[in-house]
Amino acid sequence: MASTTPGKDPLLFNKVSGAILGTCLFVMSLNLGAEAIFHVSKPAIPGYDLPSAPEEGAAGAEPAAVVVAPIAERLAKADKARGETVAKQCLTCHSLKADGSGAQVGPHLFGVFDRQKASTNFSGYSAAMKAKSGEKWDAEHLDAFITNPRAALPGTTMTFAGLNNPDRRADLIAYLETVK
Ligand code: HEC
Repeated sequence: MASTTPGKDPLLFNKVSGAILGTCLFVMSLNLGAEAIFHVSKPAIPGYDLPSAPEEGAAGAEPAAVVVAPIAERLAKADKARGETVAKQCLTCHSLKADGSGAQVGPHLFGVFDRQKASTNFSGYSAAMKAKSGEKWDAEHLDAFITNPRAALPGTTMTFAGLNNPDRRADLIAYLETVK
């Protein structure tokens, strides 16, 4: 008989490996479940289907980002009040006041919805942003920019990391539309 040392459980190895295997199976089943629930359809408007989307789903961070509904569809059920809360993270750098008071790391965002890009008296616009001054901040452009500013506009000086959650972006945009 090999080992009957008191205090040593001969089945310890089995128990530990069983627990590890069980955890792996559980995590895998979560992933499969998330795939089944969220992998429904392709977005009607291509271009918001982020190349990194499958990895994001697998990482379990924001499963809802796997399939992104068009912004118009998300805006239709957006919550402005929740958007006001989301907008708090913009206030570190942006003013939302009519008089532009508050943080001035970036241009004021009062009336930003449908405003011409790079059109305020902010002196720090990047060359990349100024090059877009022929465009407007409509819902699509805001949505794309806020998702990941530096990916949407390489060369931008907005160092904000981005808002991953498509529905929170819609809430935010719905709120910004009222700030005018
Ligand atoms: C760390 C500071 C910082 C944060 C946080 C930040 N921004 Fe910005 N933002 C900037 C800067 C700087 C610019 C100017 C970028 C450029 O010119 O490239 C800018 C530009 C913009 C513009 C373009 C405005 C114009 O006049 O053309 C929009 C729209 C915008 N930000 C929206 C947001 C929103 C919405 C949030 C919150 C979700 C946010 N930003 C968070 C710094 C920030």
